[in-house]
Amino acid sequence: MLNFWDASWGLDERQCPCDVYFAEYLEQKSVKGASIFHFGTGSHHILALRNAQIGANNAILGITASPGEYEAYVKLLIENPRLGATYKAYFGDIYQLDPRLLPGFDYVTNFHACEFRTEKNDAYGALTDLEMTLVLADKIKPGGEMHFYTGSDGYQKTLAVIDSLKAQRGFADTGTYKTLRILTKPR
Ligand SMILES: C[S@@+](CC[C@H](N)C(=O)[O-])C[C@H]1O[C@@H](n2cnc3c(N)ncnc32)[C@H](O)[C@@H]1O
Repeated sequence: MLNFWDASWGLDERQCPCDVYFAEYLEQKSVKGASIFHFGTGSHHILALRNAQIGANNAILGITASPGEYEAYVKLLIENPRLGATYKAYFGDIYQLDPRLLPGFDYVTNFHACEFRTEKNDAYGALTDLEMTLVLADKIKPGGEMHFYTGSDGYQKTLAVIDSLKAQRGFADTGTYKTLRILTKPR
């Protein structure tokens, strides 16, 4: 069976502010027209909603492994058809990402690395956390950024993934925004 997420995450800024912080970061940098891959939409879909509200016109591809969160997306889109122009969310396991189906990204949120992958993913030959991270890294444009969430339950394990991202792909630490850690691809 797919290692899907049998839960649905409503917005809880105190417990998990990463999406809100990332939306703020983009807004403060006046990022417009960028392409973004987002790991873990939540049922709130806040990143895409903020993007649409401020007219930033960033194109966001979000992934969720939660049937409930996906259902919320379907409802949201039916009720807000304009949102669909800049926001595509899909249901699936991020550990099955296929590079052939991914465009180049300016930003990738890898907020939940090392949080959800288990032997259940091994059972169907899914990617590891490092492999998934490198698939996304290779799709980031030169000078583009991968963001990690230092408050994630998986962050301690993710440190080794970040080390490999630096060693194998030359990404560099270029700063933080609140509890987000920013790794930038060399130009
Ligand atoms: C704790 S929620 C956080 C949601 C949102 N990023 C936030 O901070 O409010 C974790 C998110 O990871 C997603 N997720 C869990 N396992 C996943 C997987 N294997 N592939 C893709 N998304 C997954 C869930 O669907 C959910 O959206």
